[in-house]
Amino acid sequence: MELQDKTILLGVCGGVAAYKAAALLRDMRRAGARVRVVMTEAATRFITPLTLQALSGEAVYTGLWDERIANGMPHIELSRGIDAVLVVAATADFLARMATGRAEDLLSTIALARKTPLFVAPAMNRQMWEHPATRRNVATLLGDGVCFFGPASGVQACGDEGEGRMLEPEEILEALIAALTPRRLAGKKVLLTAGPTFEAIDPVRGLTNLSSGRMGYALARAAMQAGAEVSLVSGPVELAAPYGVRVSRVRSALEMREAVLQEATTADLFIAVAAVADYRAEEVATQKHKKENGRPPEIRLIANPDILAEVAALPRPPFCVGFAAESENLETFAEEKRKRKKIPLIVGNLIQEGFGGKTNRVILFDEEGSHPLPPGEKQAIAHKLIEHIAHLLEKTYARAG
Ligand code: PMT
Repeated sequence: MELQDKTILLGVCGGVAAYKAAALLRDMRRAGARVRVVMTEAATRFITPLTLQALSGEAVYTGLWDERIANGMPHIELSRGIDAVLVVAATADFLARMATGRAEDLLSTIALARKTPLFVAPAMNRQMWEHPATRRNVATLLGDGVCFFGPASGVQACGDEGEGRMLEPEEILEALIAALTPRRLAGKKVLLTAGPTFEAIDPVRGLTNLSSGRMGYALARAAMQAGAEVSLVSGPVELAAPYGVRVSRVRSALEMREAVLQEATTADLFIAVAAVADYRAEEVATQKHKKENGRPPEIRLIANPDILAEVAALPRPPFCVGFAAESENLETFAEEKRKRKKIPLIVGNLIQEGFGGKTNRVILFDEEGSHPLPPGEKQAIAHKLIEHIAHLLEKTYARAG
């Protein structure tokens, strides 16, 4: 879980978007975080403290004079032992108070008393966001090291359209995880492939496989959270683009190859997770195949190019990581693939454990031998894998001087 062992103080201000704090809080807890909630008085008009108490499993605080805190100093007590303060539905008024260092209520006092990073997800009408006073306050806060998540652009609760909308809860969570993850891939460009390819045989039929794209998308997300600039070339899957990741959608192996080769020469790391079809029809029928006298059509297949092997053979290749999905003899087949494709690392998984589902079990094969990772959710595996790859990359750079 990405926020395991983290304690976050979630501040909620008084804007319509405050209702989204409930979904965010639930997702933060699912990601493993302990969450302490502090609300402004105005926030309690949009969402009740009881809702957030039920979701956090802890008392919710709203006032500076709360008698539940034994030493009478809630702003100090609540800012102890936390890893970050995250303020959502942050209003123009709250930004103004923080920018001038005012400490009029519990949340603004904690914002001054904290020793940890402060993340802010603003939410306000576009004219308020664009007002010179708000611009000045945002500039001051950025200068003070406050980190902004959003706002986004779009239709607002008041009916206006423009910048000022709060990010969605899942986007805030991703930004929070990224901000708290060690930036081991900072400054690196990471290129990945994910999902299946679809090889047409006629206008409506084709050859494909059951890859869901989950493993590749999870790795793209983990690489972004580790500070990399991430580009993902994706076969046809239903998944949404991970926050902060550029996604190019392709269909066939040939399209995937073209998209990959456009970026491979400038990438530092290439991770080939896609289950690329080994073969395609030599000729794609322009009309739908028909039964001829009850006989099935004859479709001649030809081999697709091996994208990973091609990237690994570039004059100055990125650090290449392959995947091998096998139904048996994982160790032998994966290691044999690694050597044949001349790559430093291959990730082996059994199709019955990793193909299509949400969980996986992987073994890494590199020049030093094999390293099993604990089985689990693909996202958790992705984080461990990115750590391992970052370590190998650091060693490779150190060797090269
Ligand atoms: O998408 P999910 O449902 O989450 O499932 C994830 C996965 C099981 C698909 C993934 O973990 C995985 O194992 N992907 C590789 C599938 C595979 O067996 O690939 P392969 O053995 O055909 O190829 C070996 C490597 O070469 C892979 O890195 C592949 O991306 C790459 N390759 C293969 C053929 C080809 N023409 N071009 C390639 O780049």
